[in-house]
Amino acid sequence: MAGPDVAPRIAAFGVLRDVSAGAYADRSAADRFEHLSSRDRRLAQRLAYGAIRLRARLDAELSEFSKRPLYELDPVVLDALRLGLYQIRETRIPAHAAVNETLEAVRSLVSAGARGLINAVLRRAEREGRNTGVFGNLDEDPVRYLSTWGSHPEWLVRRWLDRWPLAAVQRLVENDNRPPRVTLRLLDARRSADDWDRLEAAGLERIEGHPRMVQVTSGSPRDAMSVAFAITQDPAASSVVDYVSEDLEGPLLDACAAPGGKTMGLWHASPARPLIAADVSVDRLVKVKEAAAATGAAPYLVAMDARFPAVRAVRSVLLDAPCSGTGVLRRRPDARWRLTPDRLESLVALQEALIEASAALVEPGGLLTYATCSLEPEENEQLVEGFLARHPEYRRDGEGEAQGRDLFVKPWEHDSDGAFASRLRRRRAG
Ligand SMILES: C[S@@+](CC[C@H](N)C(=O)[O-])C[C@H]1O[C@@H](n2cnc3c(N)ncnc32)[C@H](O)[C@@H]1O
Repeated sequence: MAGPDVAPRIAAFGVLRDVSAGAYADRSAADRFEHLSSRDRRLAQRLAYGAIRLRARLDAELSEFSKRPLYELDPVVLDALRLGLYQIRETRIPAHAAVNETLEAVRSLVSAGARGLINAVLRRAEREGRNTGVFGNLDEDPVRYLSTWGSHPEWLVRRWLDRWPLAAVQRLVENDNRPPRVTLRLLDARRSADDWDRLEAAGLERIEGHPRMVQVTSGSPRDAMSVAFAITQDPAASSVVDYVSEDLEGPLLDACAAPGGKTMGLWHASPARPLIAADVSVDRLVKVKEAAAATGAAPYLVAMDARFPAVRAVRSVLLDAPCSGTGVLRRRPDARWRLTPDRLESLVALQEALIEASAALVEPGGLLTYATCSLEPEENEQLVEGFLARHPEYRRDGEGEAQGRDLFVKPWEHDSDGAFASRLRRRRAG
């Protein structure tokens, strides 16, 4: 008979298997955790997401404990080892329970021989404790340390170390390995002192430097939203909304709007402004519709490929482009393993096509804001520089003034996601 804690492990193991087969962690989790109680769902998510996020840290140790190289192991066995070792090293679950429950969870999927191997490797890991030598030393070999202990792909670590100081990259990597805090953007324009008291009494704490943001310190986001008129949003995304909103004129096209976090912020910042929320994915546009219904917003929804827009001319465009997402790796445990240099290159080509098509829609004097949740210069400042070189009819908004700057939110500075945005003003004709 399966013990009470086997169900979350079976579900977590299913997510690990799905992700190893190419599925997205969040979609797999949505299916596999559906039938679980909320307590089991929390445990399953912690184990699955944690083991995926820290895959390289776990593999560095498993390579020591397994007699055969990891690439020679049956992938089912390797995922079981990751799930087991994650519990032993990264949680307070007693090691014997972690091993037994993991073996129980994979019973129907692996042979008796494979279970023997899993048992032997995990017991050895438990007995011998963590050998920190396998991770190397941060100062002597930062690439090795940050790609094994830090559990990030080597090519990403290398490109970040070429750009930023070691301490910053270390903090970025650590930030990516921590699940994000839950934060809300308040949608109502004004709040009295009484309103703040009420929010604070409900466990919502103000976030310094973000007058519209609060952090949920107790209870669930759903509870929080029963006292606050708000959406869940990271401070980085919220900063992009504020950056776009400043002195915004006329109708706005949000060309890549789904799931609609920024659309909601923009709509509520100025409900009288006509706002078109477009996205190429109809399924994802449904999420914008749901968010609009939940907050009482009424943007026009348009399913379109923004490379071939179904809109002719507009005063302002927000192009929140599809990107590598290196600023939001902490939200997507599998994203770091999915990304490759080739994928990055093909995203840049898509971003270039999108910015060209969006720029052609903006009326003279109007504003195009290009944004990503990437930290990579090819997708950010280099893309904007290339665009400006090809388009003398555009300039950075407020050039030469203090505000004529791109927005770049560094995730390691304020426990946030990363974000980039650039306001590009189309010159008036003549
Ligand atoms: C970074 S997300 C946008 C996030 C959104 N602005 C928000 O704040 O919730 C990028 C979006 O671009 C959409 N997309 C990708 N290619 C597109 C295209 N060619 N035309 C329009 N939308 C596209 C994706 O479906 C995705 O929803």
